[in-house]
Amino acid sequence: MKAAVLYEINTPLKVEEVSLDEPQENEVLVKIVATGVCHSDLHFMKGDMPQPLPFVPGHEGAGIVEKVGPGVTTLQPGDHVILMVAFSCGKCPRCAEGRPSLCVENLPIQMMATLPGGGIRLHKGDQAINHLFGLACYAEKVVVHERSAVKVREDAPFEVVCTLGCGVSTGLGMSINTAGIRPGDSIAIFGCGGVGLSAVMGAKLAGAGTIIAVDTLDNKLQKAKELGADYVINVSQEEPQAKVTELTGGGADYAVECIGKVDVMVQALGSIRIGGTCIIAGMAPLADQLSIAPFHFLLGKTIKGSTQGDVIPSIDIPKYIDLFMAGKLPIDKLITKSYKLDQINEAFEAMEKGETIKSIIKF
Ligand code: CU
Repeated sequence: MKAAVLYEINTPLKVEEVSLDEPQENEVLVKIVATGVCHSDLHFMKGDMPQPLPFVPGHEGAGIVEKVGPGVTTLQPGDHVILMVAFSCGKCPRCAEGRPSLCVENLPIQMMATLPGGGIRLHKGDQAINHLFGLACYAEKVVVHERSAVKVREDAPFEVVCTLGCGVSTGLGMSINTAGIRPGDSIAIFGCGGVGLSAVMGAKLAGAGTIIAVDTLDNKLQKAKELGADYVINVSQEEPQAKVTELTGGGADYAVECIGKVDVMVQALGSIRIGGTCIIAGMAPLADQLSIAPFHFLLGKTIKGSTQGDVIPSIDIPKYIDLFMAGKLPIDKLITKSYKLDQINEAFEAMEKGETIKSIIKF
């Protein structure tokens, strides 16, 4: 089968034939129909987050189960599934308390790029190829742990709902779960890529009173307006902290940072009211340090991390899909372009330049 492999940091992906092993204990083989192009892959491909090479990236896959390995109880061939970027074991204390996005087994998988349990099912001749995020969805087929896959309704279009595997659920969940927006609350969203625009939609759905979108690109801000932003701020023209403070009469209840830049995190913290909450979802390079004035804490402000929007995949993903299918959550409007696997490098280039908002690879 064909897959896009990264052999060296900062080089183009190589689309080539590789081999895929049969699914082992608790694993399933999924034929991929669509995979979203997400910015977090790029951090790993550029070496901001060191990973063992070579690897196949791609972590917003959706497709159809073809085969199941021994011991699989939750899925069967023919099931439509979305593959989730964050693995959860279902047994650790964080999973037991209902916070699977904080599963203790997830981090090692994300740092080692193997399947849960350490397995590698991808090969090129004698060479093992790692599975980024335990998935590797820029490939015609994947073998993944059954708990990485969420079964979804069969009438949902793969090329739209695949984005719920990472970016879209992260943004929706950040507004709905991490912030816990209540009707009338104000929120400033820094960065209008796939995650930030999904946070706009999540805030709208939760009944936010004032939604302010902040970015440097007018095409993204225009999209934010379409999806529910009440105000937009182009930071190349206006200073965002002063503007958010003015628009909200003293600072937003919530600010979210969806880019992964430390100076933007500082701006987000400076945009919330006394006692407000600043949520960081952006993925900054591993070696970066965040420097903030401790005075913010005297104002009773909170800074919070958010992993995968604190979603509970088996519950939240089918709900988001139902909302989309009912016309109440326009996640399809995020997707501005689709590519073939052979065009994967082109897709990343366009995303980096800000030409596409959210693109997908269609198989
Ligand atoms: Cu992602």
